[in-house]
Amino acid sequence: MAKVTVFGIGYLGATHAACMAELGHDVLGVDTDQSKLAKLVAGQVPFYEPGLEEVLQRNIAAGRLRFTSSYSEAAEFADIHFLGVGTPQKRGEYAADMKFVDSVIETLAPLLTRAAVIFGKSTVPVGTASRLGARARELAPAGDDVEVAWNPEFLREGFAVQDTLHPDRMVLGVDRDRPGRAEGLAREVYAQLLDEQIPFLVTDLATAELVKASANAFLATKISFINAIAEVCEASGADVKVLADAIGHDDRIGRKFLNAGIGFGGGCLPKDIRAFMARAGELGADQALTFLREVDNINMRRRTRMVELAREACGSLLGARVAVLGAAFKPDSDDVRDSPALNVAGQIQLQGASVNVFDPRAMENSRALFPTLSYSTTALEACEGADVVLVLTEWKEFKALKPADLDGVVRSKTLIDGRNCLDPDEWRAAGWTYRGLGRP
Ligand code: UDX
Repeated sequence: MAKVTVFGIGYLGATHAACMAELGHDVLGVDTDQSKLAKLVAGQVPFYEPGLEEVLQRNIAAGRLRFTSSYSEAAEFADIHFLGVGTPQKRGEYAADMKFVDSVIETLAPLLTRAAVIFGKSTVPVGTASRLGARARELAPAGDDVEVAWNPEFLREGFAVQDTLHPDRMVLGVDRDRPGRAEGLAREVYAQLLDEQIPFLVTDLATAELVKASANAFLATKISFINAIAEVCEASGADVKVLADAIGHDDRIGRKFLNAGIGFGGGCLPKDIRAFMARAGELGADQALTFLREVDNINMRRRTRMVELAREACGSLLGARVAVLGAAFKPDSDDVRDSPALNVAGQIQLQGASVNVFDPRAMENSRALFPTLSYSTTALEACEGADVVLVLTEWKEFKALKPADLDGVVRSKTLIDGRNCLDPDEWRAAGWTYRGLGRP
């Protein structure tokens, strides 16, 4: 079994660290954020991710998983280092902010006195790995014995453990100009996964970086494609959900990621397509990705459309009571980063409505981001006296709602389903005005 470190213990890093320990490796998680460290040391995951806490606790108890803020301890501990820090969008710019990634290399490399491999996992602009490799060799006492390889992560929030332990593919970018130990070590670390016949693609560094950017760009495009079609459906009286089912039967197209609604959000897709455009521009290939600007526009338009529908339903938003069910950017997550649901709630409130939000998991994060919205402790409470109920995140408990649950609670039996996750016939049969997005 290998000794490995994981730099960055956010979504990606904490999951990777816990899962590497689950594979039997000896793992040291490294971060400068003391409050995150304290939580993880105590066996608590600082965000909601089904199944992760169990994996974390089990491996801490087994002595395979520890955490530290000390880079020198990390450099001493292992010769395999994973880098999983964040690459957020720069303020006021499309490009990714590389300060966290750069700072790991600047701090860690000078401590590397033995041969070592740094496996980058963060989503980075193409060209980063090669740049970091040169910088690490320059700074490290071990010099050319330090390698940087790129091993992008494709995990989805809500399925992070499963996606890490049973990914549908693994990609490793290695420096073709200086063949080293990266591939061999990755094969050792991921031996169990390779035994499961999970496809393992070894590429050059740039390809590995681009695989990740392209995968996310494709997913975002697929969602915006169906949302663009939803606009045409709205204009023509067609039904986007039936349409998606129909085109989805063509397995070249596939039904997944064709759910029309208020669009994509979260900590990845929005910022990743923007960073991708910015990087293509720097490389002189900006024309290639101008369509992503449209993908972004279509996506943002869905939020505005949802606000319009709410306004139509209420006559005027001024003084209206609006119930918002869902704040997280998707179900089974407490993540509200760039959440379409919260964004819509905020816009509606700015237009003078009183907005009551309920989300099964994301209340604390929502309050921190949008302290001026009202928050309820149950879905029913959020719907009390509502002129319109908006379903903005397709949590199971919202999908299970029955018209009878809300009949006596709301002021007006009007529901707008921003995720097309409820059965229109059932609600209409019970006397409700039901509206979906891109549906008659
Ligand atoms: C995404 C990628 O899926 C993952 O591979 C990558 O590593 C990180 O980014 P994640 O951000 O967890 O993962 O969310 P994802 O499940 O992709 O959903 C993104 C957004 O798209 C959500 O807001 C979701 O509600 C929305 N979505 C998804 C749709 O609007 N329609 C769909 O059909 C699918």
